[in-house]
Parts: sequence; structure tokens; C-alpha cells
Amino acid sequence: MTFEALVIDSTEPRVSIRSLTQDQLPGEGDVLVGVEWSSINYKDALAVTSKGKIIRGEMPFVPGIDLAGSVIHSESSDFSEGDRVLATGWGIGEKHWGGYSQVQRVSSKSLIPIPSGLSTRDSMIVGTAGLTAMLSVLEIENHGLPITSGEVLVTGATGGVGSFSTMLLSQAGYQVAASTGKSSARDYLMSLGATRIVERSELENGAARPLDRGEWSGCIDSVGSKTLESVLSRCKAHAVVAACGLAGGHELNTTVFPFILRGVKLIGIDSNTCPVARRITAWSRLSELAGNVDLNSLAHEVALSGIVEASTQLMKGGITGRYVVNLQSGA
Ligand SMILES: NC(=O)c1ccc[n+]([C@@H]2O[C@H](COP(=O)([O-])OP(=O)(O)OC[C@H]3O[C@@H](n4cnc5c(N)ncnc54)[C@H](OP(=O)(O)O)[C@@H]3O)[C@@H](O)[C@H]2O)c1
Repeated sequence: MTFEALVIDSTEPRVSIRSLTQDQLPGEGDVLVGVEWSSINYKDALAVTSKGKIIRGEMPFVPGIDLAGSVIHSESSDFSEGDRVLATGWGIGEKHWGGYSQVQRVSSKSLIPIPSGLSTRDSMIVGTAGLTAMLSVLEIENHGLPITSGEVLVTGATGGVGSFSTMLLSQAGYQVAASTGKSSARDYLMSLGATRIVERSELENGAARPLDRGEWSGCIDSVGSKTLESVLSRCKAHAVVAACGLAGGHELNTTVFPFILRGVKLIGIDSNTCPVARRITAWSRLSELAGNVDLNSLAHEVALSGIVEASTQLMKGGITGRYVVNLQSGA
């Protein structure tokens, strides 16, 4: 039986849709998954457009760091045929073949059951971006930031991580200021729960001075570089900042003053290697969210054949929310 996959190769055509058979899948995993939905994250867009060195496996390679579907066959006692499962991170789509294939072999250690409150499609609207936002909110909560402490800033707010961060912080009761470079996104961000819009240009030139007027009690930052530098200088005493992205650059020039004079906490977030128990906690919270909000309002749906164009748009920073990939519709 053949199935379709988006394959990246070292020779032309570099990206193509190919018909594969099960014996062409690398033999690393103990669970065969019928992939129904995947998504396009920043890392996927870098891989598909060759703008970043994301793929660490041998060519040819199937990218896609997220996948969700049903178990076709399992050699693991943890999963049975028909179970609804999802996988994000653990090197899937980077080192191991990923979600842009209608069938994939996955290690049972990378899989978790899809929570009953989430449809398989919704789990991929969430995907790595939503998981990262949830892990960031959990850190902010675990570091004891009261919901009455004032505004929590979200940078890159219309992106996948930013949209979920805005929504999740608002649902958790925080007052959210959303920073965006898109002047047309005001209504979208307000609909997610933001109460104030901050122009991206206010942050992207870096800190005016090492310590500025304290404005924010916390931040989820998916931009990095000068934006994070600026945020750190403008945090209130005992603010909690979750650093999870680099859409604006990977470097960070700052001083120790926010940390030693205001007790600002800078927390790193890595969804890729996040331990299973923490993932399950995060996904459980995410499934509660699905009952309260319209996840579909964040989604743009594409088929396998739409991934290249969608990735190009994502790299231009031109979309709001999340791309979900429908693998049931064929190429
Ligand atoms: N740590 C982790 O585990 C983890 C997991 C997932 C993603 N990430 C990282 O998080 C970042 C965002 O990922 P994503 O999937 O949300 O990507 P995305 O959907 O493309 O969103 C990125 C957003 O950042 C803003 N932006 C883009 N270019 C910018 C620039 N030059 N300067 C300032 N802002 C810019 C834009 O929002 P506005 O137009 O609203 O400003 C854009 O929509 C990426 O760096 C990604 O690698 C990390």
C-alpha cells in the first residue's frame, strides 16, 4: 500500500510530494501511526524553505515537528491499534522523520495520548506552538506571579506561540499586552484576550538604558534579540519572563541590573526536550482551553501540496495564528 509524503532531498527537486511504502520508512520507531493532521511551525518553515539548518537526519528526509493521528500497529505495550496519539518535538522532523507523511513510524517514548477534550485536528492547531505557550504560562504561574500584578506582555503576538500565549494568559486571568508588527491585527489580538496593543517598533531597537520605567510584570517572548533586551530593561520588580523564541534574532545583549536590582526572573523554555510528565500536565490544561475558546479561529488549513507556499508566507512573518496540515485530503 502506498501513501503520500512531503520529502526533502539533497538533489533537485529539493522538495517534492512522493508516494512511499511502509518499508521506506526508517525503522527507528515501535509504533506505526496513520497521520491525520500536522502543523507548520517556525522550525518547519525554516526546514522547508532551506532558510535554517534544522534537519539533522540523512537525506531524503520527511520534515514536520508535529503529528497526530491513530495507531495502525504497535509493538509497545503502552499503545494499541486505534489509539488517538500525538507527538511533538523529541527531534521529530529534525533528526527523525516527521509529520508530513500520511503514515509514520514513531517511537512510543515520543507519543502521548490525545486528551479526550481535544479533537485530533484541534491538537494540531495547538501543536508545538501551543505547547510552548502553555509551558511558558505554567512557568509564570509556578514562579508565583499574581494575576493582579499588572500587564503581562506577549511579543510576536500574532504568531503561533504568540497567539496561544495571548489566549492562555488571558484565560488564566492575567491582563495581557500584545506586541505586534501588524497594524491590521488589533481586532484579532483583542478577540484572543489582549487588552492593549504595543507596537513592535517600541521594542525592536533594544534597551534605551539598562533599567527603564518598570511596565510589565511578566512576558512571554518569542522574538529574542533586541526585543528581549528592551523587555528586560522595562520589567517591574520581580517580573517573570519566559524566553521561548528567536523570530527577531538569537543574540542577547543585556546587563545584570534587571536581575540583581529588580529580581527579574528570566526562564528558558524548550518544548523539544520537555519531560513527558510535564507535557501531560500541559496538554491537560490545553484540553480545558478547548472547551472555552474557538481554536478554529486560529487555524489556516492546507494540504501537503500547500506546505511550501505556507512556509514561505510564515517566514515573511505574514500570517496570524496557525497553519494545520490536513493529511487525509491527500496531496
Ligand atoms: N522554545 C521552544 O520550545 C519553541 C517552540 C516553538 C517555537 N519556538 C520559537 O518561537 C518563535 C516563534 O515561533 P512561531 O511558530 O510562533 O512562529 P510564527 O508563527 O512565525 O510567529 C513569529 C511572530 O514573530 C513576529 N516576528 C516575525 N519576525 C520578526 C522580527 N524580525 N522581529 C520581531 N518580531 C518578528 C511576528 O509577529 P507580529 O507580526 O505579531 O509581531 C510573527 O508572526 C520562533 O523563533 C520559534 O523557533 C520555540
